Amino acid sequence: MTQDPFQRITELRKELEYHNKLYYTDAAPEVSDQRYDQLIAELATLEREHPQYQSPHSPTHRVGGAPIEGFKTIAHAQPMLSIDNTYDQQELTAWHQRVVSGLGLPTDLWGHATIECVAEPKIDGVAISLRYEAGILVQALTRGNGVEGDDITTNVKTVRNIPLKLEGDPPAVLEVRGEIYMPHASFEAINQKRRDQGLELFANPRNATAGTLKQKDSKAVAQRKLMCFAHGRGVIEPDTFETYYNYLQTIKSYGLPVNDNVKCCNTIDEVWQFVEEFSKKRTTLAYDTDGVVVKVNNFLAHESLGATAKAPRWCIAYKFPAEQVQTRLKQITWQVGKGGTVTPVAELDPVFVAGTTVRRATLHNMDEISRKDIRVGDRVLVEKAGEIIPQVVSVVLADRPAHAVPTKAPEICPSCKEPVIQEEGETALRCVNLQCPAQVREKLIWFAGRGQMDIDGLGEKVVHQLADVDLLKSFGDVYKLKDHASQILTLERFGQTKLDNLLAGIEQSKQRGLAKILGALGIRHVGTTAARILAQHFGEIVAIQLASVEELADFQVMGNKSGIGPQIAQSLHDFLASDAGKQIITDLQTTGVNLTEEKILQPVDSPFAGKTLVITGSFDNYDRRELTSQLQGFGAKVSSSVSKKTHLVIAGQAAGSKLSKAQELGIEVWDEAKLTEALALIC
Ligand code: IVH
Repeated sequence: MTQDPFQRITELRKELEYHNKLYYTDAAPEVSDQRYDQLIAELATLEREHPQYQSPHSPTHRVGGAPIEGFKTIAHAQPMLSIDNTYDQQELTAWHQRVVSGLGLPTDLWGHATIECVAEPKIDGVAISLRYEAGILVQALTRGNGVEGDDITTNVKTVRNIPLKLEGDPPAVLEVRGEIYMPHASFEAINQKRRDQGLELFANPRNATAGTLKQKDSKAVAQRKLMCFAHGRGVIEPDTFETYYNYLQTIKSYGLPVNDNVKCCNTIDEVWQFVEEFSKKRTTLAYDTDGVVVKVNNFLAHESLGATAKAPRWCIAYKFPAEQVQTRLKQITWQVGKGGTVTPVAELDPVFVAGTTVRRATLHNMDEISRKDIRVGDRVLVEKAGEIIPQVVSVVLADRPAHAVPTKAPEICPSCKEPVIQEEGETALRCVNLQCPAQVREKLIWFAGRGQMDIDGLGEKVVHQLADVDLLKSFGDVYKLKDHASQILTLERFGQTKLDNLLAGIEQSKQRGLAKILGALGIRHVGTTAARILAQHFGEIVAIQLASVEELADFQVMGNKSGIGPQIAQSLHDFLASDAGKQIITDLQTTGVNLTEEKILQPVDSPFAGKTLVITGSFDNYDRRELTSQLQGFGAKVSSSVSKKTHLVIAGQAAGSKLSKAQELGIEVWDEAKLTEALALIC
């Protein structure tokens, strides 16, 4: 079937954004890296073939997703880029050739060139940036969206092989980048404990690591036995390092953890030999790896090769193909999500794949089932690339039982039995009954969850327990639980302390403010970002209730379009105008939930909105990192290198090559005084 390229591009962008969010923000990916990379590759090809559809917002330009909510967000002194991936030996060789020609290196009679590269394991964990000042660990940031990340210093300090104080004579400022991971033994022990407590299991060590690092209680983190390997660098002052290999050896002497399986290679054949050897060795290691990272050794060569929008050119990851196994599809169940989407789930004969036992796998939607012709009773091929939720890749047709019949889409909702619908242009089936019990429960779980109302003590299990006895049927019911204390105390595993904690958590959540509430209600299309923008602009729920669809869609934030399109505006407006929506808001108001938002910034014309800036040198009155996030708050995109696309360079004292480059390119340059003046006008 051929499809209009623009339509496919739009679809892919939407899908990738969705997976991106799941991966980077929620740490709960639904597809394998390989699948994600396939989609990215398809999009990149289409964008290349149809340059008229290129967009600066395309996921192909993106470095990552938004930071996790709940921790202080801080700008990286140097962005944390991603790496290009390949699953193909030829592409690895092509990368090597690009490096050779990019550096203008000579080749021999056979076209071979010698360039020192370091090959090392790709650790399947969570990226971290560790900042040491005068040898002391002062900050640990997650990668976040690559430009800014979350300050998780307290949690990282519990990672046992990360030194809090360096040995020897380290540079005054040393930013080490690396990977935090969970060894298999810790992972098994944690899941065993969770199984005993009836808690949901972590899908794999990477998810467990991400989940652990997001914990607010660092004592709990300490019990999880996380580990780290250093594999990169950020800012170093003074910087005397010439090669990556030497850098690794030196930081090892400071006490930092460096992987043993690191090899200096002179040719791409040597690199490939390492890949082959390591692909066998990795199965014996105590932690997960998902590939080999190859880096040019010389740091000057890094500078001259530079980076694309997404990844440096001096580095590539060869990723191992996903492990696939066969099992039997016992049944297909249909699950109702918080937005009413009815999703098929494969119930499988348990099978061990890539480190964990798989019992269930999402089948995404009916189209996917029809396309793969998946039938109950089939033998199916299941894939899991380390950190992912398993996928049913295909059916083994030769083994299909004679009685297997094509799968039919349900006509009614499995929970409330009302008819399900399929909207035009959508693949998903949807239950539109707002009172649907399954949907209500999912909405309540979302409402109470981290990033939304963040109600301590009201996790998934407790929501089910309370909903089972009809104490939770709506958002408003959450705030009426205190009137049912004696009944709650009769529930299994509910003592006075647990109840007190729950009620205290609920009470605290009343003050989260309008942005959190709007995002927590699970209104279709109204995500966390839209909720924050709307709350900031309108300030109180009444103003939003009174606004027309046009007013909701058409306002400016600091001289730029707000980003709230007609789809979000219409959906929000419909919700607030509906009887159910009105009832929800009234319930929340009468139970004392704060439905206002403090305005942080007045919408003013920011001279930085939509501008690409480079900050260089040092300032008397500004910390570079704080300045970066402040300017980003005013709508600027802060970049680390000067190019023709740079609008403005802010140069402090001792600004070096970036300032000269800006002058060469005729780019506007501001000094500290000019910056202060501009900030005074808008702050
Ligand atoms: S180098 C400019 N080396 O993989 C980026 N990354 O898929 C330099 N990772 O974000 C990264 N092991 O967190 C590098 N030996 C290794 C790695 C590694 C794991 C992670 C890293 C990166 C991600 C990209």
